[in-house]
Amino acid sequence: MLPIDPIAAVTHADPYPYYRDLARQHPFHRHDALGLWVAASAQAVEEVLNHPDCRVRPPAQPVPPALAGNVAGELFGRLVRMNDGVNHASLKTILLRQMAGIDLGAARTRARTLAAGLPRVDSDDGHEANRWMFTLPVLTVADLLGLPLERDGDGHVSTRVAGFVTTFAAAMSPLATPADVEAGVAAARWLTQWVGEHAAGASSDGLLHAMLAVAGEADIDPAVLTANAIGLMIQACEATAGLVGNTLVRLGREGGPEVGRDGGHEGRLEVERDAGLGNLDALVADVARTDPPVQNTRRFLAADATLCGVPVKAGDAVLVLLAAASHDPDAVSHATRHATPAGKPWTFGTGRHGCPGDALAQVLAACTVERLLQRGVQPARLLGTLRYRPSMNARIPQFE
Ligand code: HEM
Repeated sequence: MLPIDPIAAVTHADPYPYYRDLARQHPFHRHDALGLWVAASAQAVEEVLNHPDCRVRPPAQPVPPALAGNVAGELFGRLVRMNDGVNHASLKTILLRQMAGIDLGAARTRARTLAAGLPRVDSDDGHEANRWMFTLPVLTVADLLGLPLERDGDGHVSTRVAGFVTTFAAAMSPLATPADVEAGVAAARWLTQWVGEHAAGASSDGLLHAMLAVAGEADIDPAVLTANAIGLMIQACEATAGLVGNTLVRLGREGGPEVGRDGGHEGRLEVERDAGLGNLDALVADVARTDPPVQNTRRFLAADATLCGVPVKAGDAVLVLLAAASHDPDAVSHATRHATPAGKPWTFGTGRHGCPGDALAQVLAACTVERLLQRGVQPARLLGTLRYRPSMNARIPQFE
C-alpha cells in the first residue's frame, strides 16, 4: 500500500514508487490536508531551496513555542541551521571553511580509536546497532572539535555527551512530548555548560579552537560559536544514525563487503578491513542517494512570491521532499543519478543551508557500520524486527 501522504512516506517500508509518482505528476502542489505546499521534483526542490524568500523558520517564530524562553530555546535560536540573513551567512562561512579543512583519513582513524573504547555491552545485535548509531558519530565529532572525552579505568570512553545530544535532538522534533522537552532543557543546560567550560582549553588542533580564533576576528559572540559547536554534534546525531541504520538494512537485504572480524590474524585483518571499507564507502554513498536518512525539510515564505510558476503567500510553508528529488525519474540532466546538479546526494540539501558535513557524515557512517560488523553484528538478523522511529523528516531504523 502506498503512503497516505508525504509525511507518512518518511517511515513507510518502501516509499520510493510513491515519491517517483509525486515528482513526475505533482512536482509542486498544495496538500490541503497537511496545509502545506509540497515540492517533489528535483527542479522544484532546487528552486525552493534557492529562493531568497524561503526561510528555515516561520519569520514570526524563530524558536518553536515549546522551547521558547528556556535554555533549549536559546541554544536552538543560535544555531546556523535555524537562522537566515547575516546571522547565518557569517557563521556559515566559518563552518564551511573549517569543515572543508577536516582530514577525513584522520577522522576515520579517530572514529576507529574511539570505537575500540566502546565495549560490546549487549549480546542482542539490534540493541547494539541502535546504541552505536547514536553514539560513535557524535563522539567522533566531539573529539574532532577538540573536546575532552572521559575514559574509565579500563579505557572505555564515556558516552555521556552522545546521550545528551540525542536527548536534545529529540526535544527539537515536532513530535516531542512535554517530557521530551523537559529532558531536552536539561540536556541543553549540560551541553552548554560542558562545551563552555572546555572551550578555552579545547585541543589546539581541534575544530573548536580554530572556530573561536576566526570568530574573534569576525566579531562573532563566542556564546554563538559554542552553541554552533554543539550544533555540529546535534547535526551529526540523528541523520548519521539514519545513514548507518539504512546501510545496515541494505546489507541485511543484499549482503555486502566482507569486513574482518575482531580477533583474527592482525596483518591479514588490516588488508581485509581496508578492502571491505572501500566497498562500504561506496555502499554508504549509494544508500545516501537511494534510501536517504533525511527525507524532507521545510521552508517558510517571508513574503508573497511565485514558486514553480505558482503564486504563494507570506506565511505559507513548503514541505521540500529531498527523497522525492532523489528519485525523480525526469532529473535526466543531472550528471550523477539521485544527486543534485553539484553531484551531492539530495539528502544533504542544497543552496544556502546545504549541509557542510556531507563528506564527514559518510565517513562516520561507514566507520560505524564497519565496527559493528567487526563486533559480529549480522545485518540479516536485524531485518526481522525492522521498524522506523516515529519522525516527520528522518528515516531512522529502530532495531528491536
Ligand atoms: C547523514 C548525515 C547527515 C545528513 C543527511 C545531513 C543533512 C543535512 C541537511 C538536509 C541540511 C540542510 C537542512 C535544510 O536546508 O533545511 C543540513 C544542514 C547542516 N548540517 Fe548536515 N547532515 C548530516 C550530517 C552532518 C554532520 C556530520 C555535520 C557536522 C558535523 C552536519 C552539519 C550540518 C550543519 C552545520 C548544517 C546547517 C547548515 C546551514 O543551515 O547552513 N551535518 N544537514
